[in-house]
Amino acid sequence: MIQTENISAGEKTMLGRPTWWKETVVYQVYWRSFFDTNGDGIGDLRGVIEKLDYIRSLGVDFIWLNPFNESPGVDNGYDISDYYAVAPEAGTMADVDRLIEEAHRRGLKIMMDIVLNHTSDRHPWFLASRSSKDDPKRDWYIWRDPAPDGGPPTNWRSYFHPSCWRFDEATGQYYMHSFAIGQPDLNWANPEVRQAMYRMLRFWLDKGVDGLRLDALALLAKPETFTDAADPYDIRYLTHNPGLHDYLQEMNREVFRHYNIMTVGEVAFATPELGVLFVDEERRELNSLFHFEVADEMPAWDMVRFKRIQRRWADALRGRGVMGQFLNNHDHTRQVTRYGNDREYRVQSAKLLATMIHTLPGIPYVYQGEELGMTGVRFASIDDYRDVMMKSRYEEEVGRGRSPEEVLRELQPLSRDNSRTPMQWNAGRNAGFSAGEPWIRPNPNHTAINVEEAEADPDSVLHYYRKLIALRKEHPVMVYGDFEDISGDDPHVYAYVRKHGDTAWIVVLNHSDAPGAFELPEPYAGKTMQLVLGNYADADKLLRAGKLELRPHEARILSCVI
Ligand code: NOJ
Repeated sequence: MIQTENISAGEKTMLGRPTWWKETVVYQVYWRSFFDTNGDGIGDLRGVIEKLDYIRSLGVDFIWLNPFNESPGVDNGYDISDYYAVAPEAGTMADVDRLIEEAHRRGLKIMMDIVLNHTSDRHPWFLASRSSKDDPKRDWYIWRDPAPDGGPPTNWRSYFHPSCWRFDEATGQYYMHSFAIGQPDLNWANPEVRQAMYRMLRFWLDKGVDGLRLDALALLAKPETFTDAADPYDIRYLTHNPGLHDYLQEMNREVFRHYNIMTVGEVAFATPELGVLFVDEERRELNSLFHFEVADEMPAWDMVRFKRIQRRWADALRGRGVMGQFLNNHDHTRQVTRYGNDREYRVQSAKLLATMIHTLPGIPYVYQGEELGMTGVRFASIDDYRDVMMKSRYEEEVGRGRSPEEVLRELQPLSRDNSRTPMQWNAGRNAGFSAGEPWIRPNPNHTAINVEEAEADPDSVLHYYRKLIALRKEHPVMVYGDFEDISGDDPHVYAYVRKHGDTAWIVVLNHSDAPGAFELPEPYAGKTMQLVLGNYADADKLLRAGKLELRPHEARILSCVI
């Protein structure tokens, strides 16, 4: 961890008061695609244990594991049927205990992914709830009468389907599902539901879990009135409804504050103004959040838009709260494909994006394989895709009479399966992921892009990640330094300063296939600069700065005394 002795106790920085979890770098493991030890074609917890030394070698200190609870697997584990059991394909409770222990032995922390908004439709709570209108668990979910014409109660869509309502013959009512049909939404207005969830959280935290990633948090509170939306496609109405922050403050009082943990909320449709309500330290809700103004709302790279998003968030959170920095997780296309250049500049581009994420204010997240510059994938047939969201959209569009080929082409670029292909360990069969038949096909480019190759190549994306992450551990400026964008609305060059004490780091990124240039403004123009890190081997080590000439996708971190 960082040497914080030159940060005085109680000092307020860009990220507020120095605290261990603000200095962390998180590595996300989508375990079902990480490493399979029993040949069933599905990654498992033992696979994570086997690869702990690799993970540790990156220099990260937290592992976020996607949900591994028992689940029918309609949405790859986000439909939980037993919060206290481990999915057999993931392993056993003994494996979880060993994973926590082995991780801790290596100085790695474990972050669990917790699904609070919904359960599986096979969860005993839901089975009871749907059994009769008088069942004590009826009110644990959201049930409504049909509209007068017998149709769904409102015109609201779900994330995955044309309606968020599903008719249930047994009792003649509809239940609400914001995601898949097999993921009924819980009724958080019911205090019994909340207490059941707090009990479950304590169970895992008492086991020694160090952090929680809280799924679909913005959806916990439901709309006050159940009436048609003017535009059903703009599903913001599912999020940020009154009562949400009361639940989070209660959750903090009942659970979080009793443990020395890190919490991060997945907060869809968070603007900086809304976001600060979740993470403002004074409010005692969450430690940090993910917002989705980039990953969900910016389909392709847009430098000016990205810079504005970063400025707005930095201004809103300065000294008050913390956000995660990432460009993709398991729900998005891989960053070098979607936001960079995964062809002739794949290596430079992957390194540039990494430089940016690790030097902007916030906690950097690395999604498995990102450290290799893994790319998205295009499968030739819909049958090769596994993602429930993609499949259901495909059916909906083809059902409207559109050409299946055209719909497939349209859905491919943003399919969530782009990031779910197996981790590429080597050039061999199934990318070294599994001895069996993988649940999803590996990306054919694993023959060139894989861990083995990257280890052997000193210029690989992998080695660059190690350097970047090591820097963060040594230099408080990278974590706590203030943030100032000095590149205005330049559409290709992004330049910003992180400043802490008398140290200034200037990050200059040329996000373009063409060469670029950047003139350092005062007070940096006349300073002697040191190159901290660059993604081209022959960048000047020392320069008296004026104008920087930049090659395509060139990234440099410079430092000077101010
Ligand atoms: C967000 C998760 O990241 C995603 O994979 C899942 O489908 C939804 N929440 C529903 O739980």
